[in-house]
Amino acid sequence: MTRPLLELAIEAKHFNRHRVIDQLDFRLERGQIASLVGPSGCGKSTLLRIVAGLDTAYQGEVRIKGQPPRLHSREVGFIFQEPRLLPWLTVAENVGFDGGKAGARDPRVLELLAEVGLSDFAQAYPKQLSGGMAQRAAIARGLFTQPALLLLDEPFSAVDAFTRMRLQDLLLSVAARHQTTLLLVTHDVNEAAYLSDRVIVMASRPGRISGEVEVALPRARDRRDPALARYEAEILTLLDDGETSFRDPVPLTANEIPLEFSRLAFAV
Ligand SMILES: Nc1ncnc2c1ncn2[C@@H]1O[C@H](COP(=O)(O)OP(=O)(O)OP(=O)(O)O)[C@@H](O)[C@H]1O
Ligand SMILES: [Mg+2]
Repeated sequence: MTRPLLELAIEAKHFNRHRVIDQLDFRLERGQIASLVGPSGCGKSTLLRIVAGLDTAYQGEVRIKGQPPRLHSREVGFIFQEPRLLPWLTVAENVGFDGGKAGARDPRVLELLAEVGLSDFAQAYPKQLSGGMAQRAAIARGLFTQPALLLLDEPFSAVDAFTRMRLQDLLLSVAARHQTTLLLVTHDVNEAAYLSDRVIVMASRPGRISGEVEVALPRARDRRDPALARYEAEILTLLDDGETSFRDPVPLTANEIPLEFSRLAFAV
């Protein structure tokens, strides 16, 4: 029996003395598409950062193909909420960035740009792209190293509804073609149900899994399928249940408020 692509068993993650994740376990099989949904601050981005090897200060065990997460691993790609393209590089150079100096000339760059509909913009600079085009370039960049696992943190939240639907379908088609496993954070239950094989629902304080919904619908899916709406309702119910079951209803004390927020308070 082959091991799951991702095995995650986080006992705890603290920021300052505050426990933000508590006993969070799940596994992802190769080729699965899973969404993480949950209230703001429940630890979704923190979880993705741990899987990407960007955060190593936690108790527990995470394995990708049996190995601990490594920073800049070619096995794992990361797509953020905003495209994060380097403005002084062309679109092709951004997409091939992980390939070093020769990256932009790698034939895979043009192939990927064709897949995301940006063939004509290889030599353009990011400022010449619309928001949706820039996010398509970010998807191409995320796939450049042919990662087995692609992490996406609210990847489409900054684009309009129509572009969002097109990007969702683009993501599904390129993930299927590259057999990429997806772990996606979203606040949109409709997006979660439409895209995912599994929707993992988190509750906050501390961040933990409150339930999971398996979306057992064949692909390609129809956005108007009433069955999708029933899955959305199931996800919403789990979210509501999580909200009313705080394990730790004690508010943060002043010295536990994350640094960036306290700085913000001084800035206003
Ligand atoms: N660098 C940090 N230092 C201190 N606390 C942090 C840091 N990053 C996150 N936190 C805290 O950890 C908790 C989880 O944050 P995280 O960003 O993972 O939440 P999230 O679920 O992604 O929220 P959102 O949906 O708003 O993006 C929050 O309480 C947050 O304040
Ligand atoms: Mg987040």
